[in-house]
Amino acid sequence: PSIFFVEPDGTEQQVDVEPGTSVMMAAQQHGIEGIVADCGGACSCATCHVYVEERLQGRFAPVGSFEDELLDTTACERLPNSRLSCQLTMSDETDGVRIEVPESQM
Ligand code: FES
Repeated sequence: PSIFFVEPDGTEQQVDVEPGTSVMMAAQQHGIEGIVADCGGACSCATCHVYVEERLQGRFAPVGSFEDELLDTTACERLPNSRLSCQLTMSDETDGVRIEVPESQM
């Protein structure tokens, strides 16, 4: 499946990944700088915050309770489509999703 990362300045980058890859991993592997991911995917840092395209939002597993708490501590405003990208697993269902990277993670 493909992910389209949209940087705060509007630059878009397409990344192709294996199913089962997290959006955070994909960002790390392809040098998407706006996703910091301090904790390495353990769902404990909230520096992998992203905004998920609404159209495909429901195809990802729902927000977990721990993720929900962390989403209240993100550097950029929490919106209804906010997620932690380490908790988003790519599959054919989510192919082509646009992921907006926030201005800042700290
Ligand atoms: Fe730390 Fe996602 S990488 S919460």
